[in-house]
Amino acid sequence: MSTYRCAAPCLFGLESLVAKELEQMGAQEVNAQNGRVLFSGDAKIVARANIRLRCAERVEIVVGQFRAVTFQQLIDASELIPWEQYLREDDAFPVAGWSRDSKLFSVPDCQAIIKKAAVNRMAKHYGIARLPETGPKVQIRFSILKDEVTVLLDTSGVGLHKRGYRENSTEAPIKETLAAGMAMLARLYDDSVVYDPFCGSGTLLIESAMLARNIAPGIRRAFSAERWGFLPREIWTQERMAAISEIKKGLPFRCVGSDVDPKAVELTLQNAKKAGVADCFTVTQADAKDFCIPTPRGVVLTNPPYGERLLDQAEAKQLTQLMGKVFVKDYGKRYLIISPDEEFETLFGRKADKRRKLYNGMIPCQLYLYYQ
Ligand SMILES: C[S@@+](CC[C@H](N)C(=O)[O-])C[C@H]1O[C@@H](n2cnc3c(N)ncnc32)[C@H](O)[C@@H]1O
Repeated sequence: MSTYRCAAPCLFGLESLVAKELEQMGAQEVNAQNGRVLFSGDAKIVARANIRLRCAERVEIVVGQFRAVTFQQLIDASELIPWEQYLREDDAFPVAGWSRDSKLFSVPDCQAIIKKAAVNRMAKHYGIARLPETGPKVQIRFSILKDEVTVLLDTSGVGLHKRGYRENSTEAPIKETLAAGMAMLARLYDDSVVYDPFCGSGTLLIESAMLARNIAPGIRRAFSAERWGFLPREIWTQERMAAISEIKKGLPFRCVGSDVDPKAVELTLQNAKKAGVADCFTVTQADAKDFCIPTPRGVVLTNPPYGERLLDQAEAKQLTQLMGKVFVKDYGKRYLIISPDEEFETLFGRKADKRRKLYNGMIPCQLYLYYQ
């Protein structure tokens, strides 16, 4: 089986978690960079990464890497990529990308050049003047950073955050990949009880339950590369079956959600059901001011309103003060709260035991970790 150099782009702050996930699944030459993790592996690893990665946005295969400062250099190097090894005669292959801090800064021009190079080489190889592009889509992506061009094939298609359980959500849902990262940082056990008193559409609790039960996030969704010609079809079924066989059953793990909005309660239960984890959920309508952990041990994992899309800034700050009171310091109780508010610790009333910089979409945040 051929070996591919791959890239897994991710939200800033999650790179080390993605690298760890890739190492655990057997990827080679794992190298975490800013906003992405590079790795190598065979076709099985490509399928495995798509099915199992919790914190990455997509999985891409690197097909070209070179330096270019003129359009001619971009044309020449793009024509050297063996496109016919990846694309069939009728495959559709749109091109999209970005450029930063580079001489070649016009993205539409670079896009057109890479497309033309692929078309020229393919037309020559297949001996036809016009490629129909009526077949499966092979999305070509490129990045140009400081004049270094990387050309990639997007094997995922729809972003990996789309697990299939959250067609509906409340107003300000956290991205599934970030929620999974927070759950990984919470160091959950088989018998943990996880609480979210601002559960919204339930993402943090659902990702926690999937992590605890070892349910791979991509088991039930499709990926673009399943329809490609150069990757063996059977690997997808094999990798899905292997992931399904590793699901842990009968754990005492529990999720307890609450939200002041009754629609959120309903949505969390619906989404948990779709994700196949509702049997460990208890969700109620409640104001966070009445929150308490009734058991000796428990982990709070939460994403309270920021005062951007929901509530205003003053109300959001009052909620942080309230959290400082109800999230009592007690042996066996841990709290992980994500917030963009730089005054968070002052308002909360305690300095966090640990902080970690994370991005909620484009919003720079900190994850505040309180261990007791
Ligand atoms: C940022 S959203 C949480 C989104 C959630 N993590 C998700 O993925 O859907 C904040 C949630 O806090 C809820 N909320 C606001 N004030 C509250 C309060 N005083 N008590 C409990 N819930 C509250 C809102 O209804 C909203 O669902």
